[in-house]
Amino acid sequence: MTGSTPSSVRSSTSRQTPVETLVVCEAAGRTFGKGNVAVVAVHEVSCTITSTSRIALLGPSGSGKSTLLQLMAGLDQPTSGTIAWPAWPGGPFQDPSRAGVIFQGLSLIPGLTAAENVAFPLLLQGVEDREAMSRARGSLALLDIGALGDKLPDELSGGQAQRVATARVVTSGPRLIFADEPTGQLDHVSGERVIDVLLEAAAHLGAGLVVSTHDSTVAARLDEQWRMRDGQLVVTT
Ligand SMILES: Nc1ncnc2c1ncn2[C@@H]1O[C@H](COP(=O)(O)OP(=O)(O)O)[C@@H](O)[C@H]1O
Ligand SMILES: [Mg+2]
Repeated sequence: MTGSTPSSVRSSTSRQTPVETLVVCEAAGRTFGKGNVAVVAVHEVSCTITSTSRIALLGPSGSGKSTLLQLMAGLDQPTSGTIAWPAWPGGPFQDPSRAGVIFQGLSLIPGLTAAENVAFPLLLQGVEDREAMSRARGSLALLDIGALGDKLPDELSGGQAQRVATARVVTSGPRLIFADEPTGQLDHVSGERVIDVLLEAAAHLGAGLVVSTHDSTVAARLDEQWRMRDGQLVVTT
């Protein structure tokens, strides 16, 4: 009788992959400085990121988006509350195949070309040189900057450098992708392409994706829109 199983049931069964909890924040906070110069950048944030999360993080400048992303990526430590990565008790950041961050500012290695920057994490993972460079060039082409592979970072515009950083993160195959205003310096079409590539990579890798943005069109491409105000997560839908 297995031959009569409706195809929709068969395909939904075969596509099932378990949803994995990747980040758990419990009343996490981050205060910079002390006493009367203290700045509460993130205040008592509780949230969970899973392998199927597709989250837009919205909020005005200074509301704590970058600080929260850095905390969730394990690049910074909360000064109150806790952040846990159930799959990686030591945190995600010893290994680029765990978490990748596309930073708001420039993060490319100055002495390496665009393609070498993208290939770099693969080389750290033991991928052979030619294979790493070939995958790097493929990712640059996906982001419509295939012609820029041999340029050095200081020959790139801000928007081009941001796309190289995006290519580097998706190529290294992480299970968590944090993108801090990745379309901030891009025109609409290039920005849409970056979001396409991030969503495709997240689906392919089974990775959780969190994108901070000011752009409501970008935010609408994600499944959930979370909003920050004065360091607090005020809406999670
Ligand atoms: N390293 C730091 N030292 C002191 N204050 C900081 C630091 N990083 C961020 N802040 C402050 O924390 C608040 C939140 O900043 P940020 O997370 O960058 O917000 P957003 O990304 O939403 O613009 C701001 O008031 C900012 O000035
Ligand atoms: Mg920011």
